[in-house]
Amino acid sequence: MQIEELLEKAGAFYLATVDGDQPKLRPLGAHHLVDGKVWLGVGEFKNVYKQLVKNPKCEVVALQPEGGKWLRWTGKATFAEGEEREKLEKVFLDAMPGLRKIYDGSEGKRMMCFTLTEARAELINLMPPGEMILDETGKKTAVVYYSWSPDGNTRFAAQTIAKKAGADLFEIIAETPYSSDFDKCCDEAKPECRDKTLRPIKPIEGFDLAKYDTVFVGSPNWWGTLAPPVYTWIKNNQEGLKGKKAALFQTNGGGGMQNLGRDFEKAVGEGVTVLPPKAFSGSSVKSSVEELEKFADERVK
Ligand SMILES: Cc1cc2nc3c(=O)[nH]c(=O)nc-3n(C[C@H](O)[C@H](O)[C@H](O)COP(=O)(O)O)c2cc1C
Repeated sequence: MQIEELLEKAGAFYLATVDGDQPKLRPLGAHHLVDGKVWLGVGEFKNVYKQLVKNPKCEVVALQPEGGKWLRWTGKATFAEGEEREKLEKVFLDAMPGLRKIYDGSEGKRMMCFTLTEARAELINLMPPGEMILDETGKKTAVVYYSWSPDGNTRFAAQTIAKKAGADLFEIIAETPYSSDFDKCCDEAKPECRDKTLRPIKPIEGFDLAKYDTVFVGSPNWWGTLAPPVYTWIKNNQEGLKGKKAALFQTNGGGGMQNLGRDFEKAVGEGVTVLPPKAFSGSSVKSSVEELEKFADERVK
């Protein structure tokens, strides 16, 4: 498992807990991969254990010796019980026999082994973007987008958001593409945007909306509104979107949000939790990775 390798490479790593409203951080060294899970150990008599029992939310950070990267592993501490607890305690103490004097197995002096559940792990770069390497939070996110220009501004935004959110990425493709000539495309799109014409789109291979609880929808700003293929996707999925969260992101040529946020909310209709939309300037979107990541983080947290 990649997390085990990253902890091993780091040598020491840090475990953060919360004590009331006070973050607490300490270095740890021991970790073991047992039955496909990475386990950490803390003393039963230590404050860190008491904090984790009271509030299992915790975070591990392991700085990698090369490349300016670090692992951030976030989740809930779940302690081993019964036979599994005994087995793991033995694994930890066999690896560090000197500790047997302290962890002699008597009440209050046990080594308590835990793993992180409902966890997310990211390999973060000093300079973004980072890389999601695990997402067991149970939240499933999809990013669905349409992009027309050769610059692929909305595509770039969609890819960055999907990577950050650990989401599956899907592209909307018009059954009949718009002209590749900018002026002609503008002429074709203008009446469609004005009349909210539903330009037919191709079925998206492997897409099953039922699997997701949050859907990001990306569109270029076309004539102040959503590109028609995005409208079509929303209309085709209106029933399936009910009960889910949906967040619009758009790229534009300088017009900003214009009517896209409002039109998106109207198009998805009742029963959908619409998260705050965001507009990104098309010409600078590729240097806005941090902003895109922040947008993703704030919508899926
Ligand atoms: C048909 C068409 C209409 C457009 N209308 C607008 C507009 O009303 N306001 C705006 O700011 N940009 C407008 N643009 C510019 C695009 O929104 C912008 O270049 C966007 O980042 C392109 O995204 P893409 O690379 O994913 O296609 C338009 C572009 C096209 C092709």
